[in-house]
Amino acid sequence: MPQHEDKKKVPQDFYFLKIIGEGSYSTVYLALEVESKKEYAIKVLKKRQIIRENKMEYVNREKRSLLKLGGSKYFVHLYATFQDSEHLYFVLSYARKGELLTHIISHRSFKLEWVEYYAAELLLALEHMKSKHIIHRDLKPENILFDRNWQIMVTDFGSSKIVGEEDTVKEPNDSNTRRRKNSFVGTAQYVSPEVLHGEEPKYSADLWAYGCVIYQMIVGKTPFRAGSEFLIFQKITNLDYQFPEGFDKTARDLVEKLLVIVPEDRLGAKDPTSYTSIREHPFFGNTNWDNLGPAPELSLSEGCDKDNFVIPTGLEPGLSDEILAQLHLNMLALPSESQVVLMEPQTRKKSEPKRKLTDLTRDEIEERLKLQKDDEYFPFVEGNLILKRGILEKKKGTFGFARKRMFLLTLGPHLYYVDPNTMTLKGEVPFSEDMKTEAKNFKVFYVHTPNRIYYLEDPTGYALEWCKAIDEVITHYFPKKN
Ligand code: ADE
Repeated sequence: MPQHEDKKKVPQDFYFLKIIGEGSYSTVYLALEVESKKEYAIKVLKKRQIIRENKMEYVNREKRSLLKLGGSKYFVHLYATFQDSEHLYFVLSYARKGELLTHIISHRSFKLEWVEYYAAELLLALEHMKSKHIIHRDLKPENILFDRNWQIMVTDFGSSKIVGEEDTVKEPNDSNTRRRKNSFVGTAQYVSPEVLHGEEPKYSADLWAYGCVIYQMIVGKTPFRAGSEFLIFQKITNLDYQFPEGFDKTARDLVEKLLVIVPEDRLGAKDPTSYTSIREHPFFGNTNWDNLGPAPELSLSEGCDKDNFVIPTGLEPGLSDEILAQLHLNMLALPSESQVVLMEPQTRKKSEPKRKLTDLTRDEIEERLKLQKDDEYFPFVEGNLILKRGILEKKKGTFGFARKRMFLLTLGPHLYYVDPNTMTLKGEVPFSEDMKTEAKNFKVFYVHTPNRIYYLEDPTGYALEWCKAIDEVITHYFPKKN
């Protein structure tokens, strides 16, 4: 890919293969450059919406920050920007191995040596940001991606601040990011107390978030958790968080030195350039700062990740209305119907007919309940037996913003969903005789209830198994009369 200053690219220089992310202002596509067949993540923003909602400054800031970081290690690289009459395009490096958050959730918690490695990489990233006068302001595991070699790539600089530049954005509150006077508040769980008090953030605001991310990699949950953002903010300002039993002592000391109310007193905050006082902390006793060595691999399932993407026959380059419509349809269609099949779901073994989930004797239920009492999700299921569980993406509407939730199908019957990040119960899909499941493909399925349709996606490709399990529970409790 030519450098940024070279001849402007156009959408027709790329095949747009798949939607890989959707936010309030942008959609991210996996794309292949026509000439080189190299893969990129292209972030596409709607000009009209950006202008109407006065978000131009965010877009410019993201571009300026990414260009300043200049494609150095540990950041998504901005290869090119261009526009057409309706859209702005950011051509970014494609993070093949996904988000840190997904891997924390699937492993529940990381081994300490993994935490040491990724905390070290993240510290090098923070040092580089500081050397370029950039405060990220929304550092969290969703914004830490992995490339094909499991190296981190920090992304989403839309909330960043370039120290020394005027903060010019003036706008009302919205639900994801808020501002008070001229101060910005990122994501509730990771926001520092001084930012909550409306102070101008310094680099040390990112050190607070860094402490939260280290805690989360070890525990599997964020340190400040509560049922509402207001209560989370209260906990943050009161430094009200706990370490679970068995939390490593050295790691605890590091986290305690980062989660400090007074920003200047945080470990590293007074370091003039590199964060030497953090580098020298005993938690990094095994880290060779000149060469971190190979990254630990976090994949649970091998073979999900094809080496090369296939350009479907007949697919034209560019992002015409027809291609856009097709890509949205692909999200819903069965893989055999879809033009673009990139990642196969995990290989399925043909299995003998299985017992129904609900075919359990009283003794078996008792036995399994006993085992389940220690489960971290047991407090959410009102004493009911969990029959099936898993992380699903819960979407608002068919194309809406997706949130990761732990779904818990239980006897009762219930289908609870919990925010695995804050460990709070978010709701329940109400069971009834009139409830129906509908699988759209291996990943996407709907649960129809009399008052609402739940749009769900199993990123591991087991939507059909979810529908079958829910159907078994429905027929168990509401056997059809005929
Ligand atoms: N989602 C958002 N940005 C991405 C990127 N650069 N690579 C992969 N997935 C993404």
